[in-house]
Amino acid sequence: MRSRCLPKGGSSGKLVPGEDDMSANTESNVSPPDLKVASRIPASRYTSRDWEDLETERLWARVWQIACTEDCISEPGDYWEYEIGPLSIVILRDDEGIVRAFQNVCPHRGAAILKGSGGGLCEVRCPYHHWRFDLKGHLCGDAQSDQLEGRPGPMSLIPVSTGTFGGFVFVNPDPDCEPLEEFLEILPKELAWVGMEDYSCSDFLTLPLPCNWKVVVDAFIETYHLHAVHPQMLAIADDVHTPITLYDKHTMFMQPYGVPSPRRKGTVTDQELWEEFAANLGHRMGMTFASTEDQGTHPPVPEGQTMRDVLVSRIRAHLASIGPRFADLDDHHIIDDFHYHIFPNAVFNVFAGWYGLIRMRPGATPDESFVDMWNFDLRAEDHPENHPRPVKSLLGVDDLSSFGTVLPQDLDVLTRAQQGLHQPGLDFLRLTPAEARIGRMHEILDRYLDPPDDQRLPD
Ligand code: FES
Ligand SMILES: [Fe+2]
Repeated sequence: MRSRCLPKGGSSGKLVPGEDDMSANTESNVSPPDLKVASRIPASRYTSRDWEDLETERLWARVWQIACTEDCISEPGDYWEYEIGPLSIVILRDDEGIVRAFQNVCPHRGAAILKGSGGGLCEVRCPYHHWRFDLKGHLCGDAQSDQLEGRPGPMSLIPVSTGTFGGFVFVNPDPDCEPLEEFLEILPKELAWVGMEDYSCSDFLTLPLPCNWKVVVDAFIETYHLHAVHPQMLAIADDVHTPITLYDKHTMFMQPYGVPSPRRKGTVTDQELWEEFAANLGHRMGMTFASTEDQGTHPPVPEGQTMRDVLVSRIRAHLASIGPRFADLDDHHIIDDFHYHIFPNAVFNVFAGWYGLIRMRPGATPDESFVDMWNFDLRAEDHPENHPRPVKSLLGVDDLSSFGTVLPQDLDVLTRAQQGLHQPGLDFLRLTPAEARIGRMHEILDRYLDPPDDQRLPD
């Protein structure tokens, strides 16, 4: 039986203009009258220990979430620990190649059975009293040799549901959860053109931050702060004609790249557009990721073409050097950003040939979080380093210089946001239509958490 506070469906719709209407010269981010999205969010959700406890009990213990990639456990006997708040889940590949997951606890007296990641397991041995479990989670051994005399009977590790999509391993501790395919709604079909499972992880970095995990999600699912926090990006991204789609639990927007924002004052020269695009997305043209090098003089723009056309040609040439997969793709899918939020904590920046995943996790208090940043590249089929096992690195804020200008700008403002959320005069966050994806996330949080009346979203 599904819990009464799990998702039951809701309104979905697009905010105009639609994906097929990119050229429309109308303001986007205007909700159609029939689309109601929460716009007043209680500030206490970001600071309250009670709310955080509800999230642990009713969200993280009941929702599908990305634990790792399939490449993290590519061989039988590989394992990977996924931590989300106080919960810890071990994902492993058993001796038949099946992906399994278990709550990270020994049924004897509760020790965590595995930490970190590794490979070569034939069985799992608890470090406390050496009870042993096969890779299907069943207790094994005999009473004489394994001190099992008097044990309560056959027992197993506590299983966690698993599913895969796009090369990612999803887990859900709820034994009564819906199938992953149902949870993901239309996203696998909509993202099929990308072929995400074929990409290789080139970076996996974790950054502790002094703010609530939802503060980070909020910042990464709206483009409303571009003009204030990342003004340099107005030269290359149209944050006005960025249509938002609300599915049921998940949301997306599509942001045109290689064109200036209508909010940008003054003329954007071809040289400026080239420099900003190369600095932020040059890796899509085969250049170094987030390079701070001089980007050089822009390539010539042929008669009758624009700098966006030139960038599209450059990206096409790079993609063609990898393989024929995107040879027939239209310009829109070649250069623009397909930006997805998979509820609750995964945000994807999807481009042809490259995508980034940012995953937020709660920290030790409501004022702390972990941000996991992954980069994935499509590599040629015969590339010698296809599908490497991701290596996790812990970052400090001072290490962010290699990520270009955008991320440090975000992190500075997130710290301020968390500080402000504690001020007693702030009752609600007040969202604009451009921030509808945040409102939708909180609606879904209400479904999962079924909070007390005084903590619910106002009508
Ligand atoms: S707690 Fe695991 S064997 Fe005792
Ligand atoms: Fe930002």
